[in-house]
Amino acid sequence: MSRPRQGLALSAILCAVALASFVAANAPAEVGAQDGGAPALEPVSAHDRQVERDALEAIARGRTTFRRDTFGDEAFWGDTIRLHEAIAGAANGGIGPGLSPASALALGLKVDIQALPRSLRRQLAAGAVDLDDPASTLVLLQRNAVVGVKGFFSGGTLTSVGIQCALCHSTVNDSFAPGIGARLDGWANRDLDVGAIVALAPDLSVVADLLGVSQDTVRQVLRSWGPGKFDAELLLDGKAFRPDGKPAATLNPPAFGLAGVNNHTWTGSWGTVSYWNAYVANLEMHGQGNFYDPRLDDAAKYPVAARTRQGHKQTHDDRITAKLPALHFYQLSLPAPAAPAGSFDRAAAQAGKAVFEGKARCATCHVPPLFTEPGWNLHTPEEIGIDDFQASRSPDGRYRTAPLRALWNTDKIHKGGFYHDGRFATLGAVIDHYNAHFRLNLSGAEKGDLIEYLKSL
Ligand code: HEC
Ligand code: HEC
Repeated sequence: MSRPRQGLALSAILCAVALASFVAANAPAEVGAQDGGAPALEPVSAHDRQVERDALEAIARGRTTFRRDTFGDEAFWGDTIRLHEAIAGAANGGIGPGLSPASALALGLKVDIQALPRSLRRQLAAGAVDLDDPASTLVLLQRNAVVGVKGFFSGGTLTSVGIQCALCHSTVNDSFAPGIGARLDGWANRDLDVGAIVALAPDLSVVADLLGVSQDTVRQVLRSWGPGKFDAELLLDGKAFRPDGKPAATLNPPAFGLAGVNNHTWTGSWGTVSYWNAYVANLEMHGQGNFYDPRLDDAAKYPVAARTRQGHKQTHDDRITAKLPALHFYQLSLPAPAAPAGSFDRAAAQAGKAVFEGKARCATCHVPPLFTEPGWNLHTPEEIGIDDFQASRSPDGRYRTAPLRALWNTDKIHKGGFYHDGRFATLGAVIDHYNAHFRLNLSGAEKGDLIEYLKSL
């Protein structure tokens, strides 16, 4: 089965542009419908062309929002918790040692090489940029080169900092050096230790007050998450740890290949991509906007959110709502990268497909080609044989059938394991779990074939 490739968005744009000019040159004749060999395309009217132009414009605007917009959240990350002071360091008008590029890269932050002028790239390549000096981080921020982080400057001084969607949902292709390269939107950043970064902020009293704990406790929780994880429900229910003592954070999921998928996030029942975008921009990033969800008034389930009326957020200066349509459109147009040739065994994958759709019954839930159910794609923890901790934090108490995407890629996209918390380190471990839970009685060869098929998706 063929899957969209990384270059799809671009080729879609090129095709649409080519199509528009072709149609313009040939109008009003029908575009090659019946004359064998020619592509069977719909005749395109002026109205259709306008729709195409609007779609391309929405992708471009959504991309800008995804990469550049802080929605005014610097009022929280900078002005309130003063993260920028810890980044700058005492030598540059902040506090403490500051965050050097080397430390930033070690915390999983990524550098967008395309944002840097050629002169700076040359200096970097020549080793002439001091990667241990926080002042170099400020230069990168001034160039908007730190993926997902926006610095605000007055003169040369960093006065505030905000975050963008790209922080957790983009990485880079390492074309220049590890952690430095071209942006890959939608690829979850599984290196990013967002908890450790937030823990650097000098004043976490607003979070401590919200949760009714000390700042030390907040930092302890943040530092427990580790790379690639974030807890998007902590500020609703105040649950920092699972009953088994492990952190409550989940893996950052990929934000590509989501078109056609109904419920979103690991636990699903929050809503659509657009619901979740509004939720994250308002309640997690602390941008300025309006947000409504009366389900958060459930004080037993969401004590923190109910007390602070997070489901009824009203702002005069709404910097989010108007951006939701294009942001939604952009995300739905982000393709999952196809498995590169040679990354899986074709013959075994073919045999594995039969196991997936037959004996192993995987396709009853992971319905091809969506690989999640068309319809209400949620299941109880018992159905898939795992604990209910994370499911019970969502409105419906279920897990969403994860749309299987780019499973071949375990050095970036699925680094950190499988399932919402990465509990299964390998695809083999996932299959062993299902084999035991559903009593599938798969042979070693069938398991091996199934792995090759999963890697082809
Ligand atoms: C601090 C890290 C972080 C930031 C910033 C962030 N997200 Fe997420 N995102 C997550 C995590 C973690 C989840 C999974 C949450 C869960 O399942 O409870 C998630 C889930 C999602 C999903 C659901 C994916 C799926 O498989 O259904 C989408 C879509 C998404 N985020 C888009 C966005 C957009 C758009 C923004 C900016 C407005 C954004 N995110 C900002 C970490 C982040
Ligand atoms: C009853 C429905 C159901 C069946 C049957 C099922 N799955 Fe799943 N699958 C799920 C759900 C729900 C999740 C998400 C679990 C989570 O987030 O913790 C999932 C997650 C996964 C993941 C992890 C994806 C990721 O991004 O981490 C893989 C891989 C997977 N399933 C493969 C399979 C295979 C292979 C089979 C057949 C042996 C199978 N599934 C059968 C519902 C199902």
